[in-house]
Amino acid sequence: MSSTEFTEPDVPPPTDSADSTESPTAPTRRTFIATTTAVGGAVVAGGFITGSTFIDAEGAEAGEAAPSSRVSLTVNGSRRTVTVDNRTSLLDLLREHLDLTGSKKGCNAGACGACTVLVDDRRVNSCLTLAARLEAAEVTTIEGLADGDELHPLQQAFIEQDAFQCGYCTPGQIVSGVGCIKEGHTGSPEEIREWMSGNICRCGCYVKIVRAVEQTAGRK
Ligand code: FES
Ligand code: FES
Repeated sequence: MSSTEFTEPDVPPPTDSADSTESPTAPTRRTFIATTTAVGGAVVAGGFITGSTFIDAEGAEAGEAAPSSRVSLTVNGSRRTVTVDNRTSLLDLLREHLDLTGSKKGCNAGACGACTVLVDDRRVNSCLTLAARLEAAEVTTIEGLADGDELHPLQQAFIEQDAFQCGYCTPGQIVSGVGCIKEGHTGSPEEIREWMSGNICRCGCYVKIVRAVEQTAGRK
């Protein structure tokens, strides 16, 4: 046996006999594991997690409906009216209710930019934006950039510059790049990098992403 391997000691299980050195009430390794497993199970049984929401057991038993709102907004040029749980993010509204799965859920915490969409022409992390607050808003997602079969110039530039590998961050990068160009933050590669810094690419395609934005902004 290697010195790093670990096995259960070859001894009988502890008993409550009088000559035991352990207190009858002291937890053994086995009782500790059994107790923590039971407690963990009770915690899980006490409530359930659905996507980004947590519903407590009491509310679920009582059959209480979570507070919801009716919201009308325009998504990629189409008017949509939906009733959503007030805690629903714009990202979940797009992906789960409207079947627009182009916007990606990376961190779901505002740190990666994979979920970037435009709301009234401004870049937002849709995972941090409450859908219920978007009455009358205009939302543009990656699905809304092409004109029929004709790609948006930045989509075309991403292909020409080979600005992606796995592609997971790409929808967010492209929507963010469109926002960056509209905002006029394309004066230099450094400026583009700065204003695209909220969009993380784990494949490290930053140089080519910046080139694609530059190309679209008319610098090349
Ligand atoms: S999924 Fe929204 S910022 Fe990462
Ligand atoms: S292309 Fe893979 S994360 Fe950006």
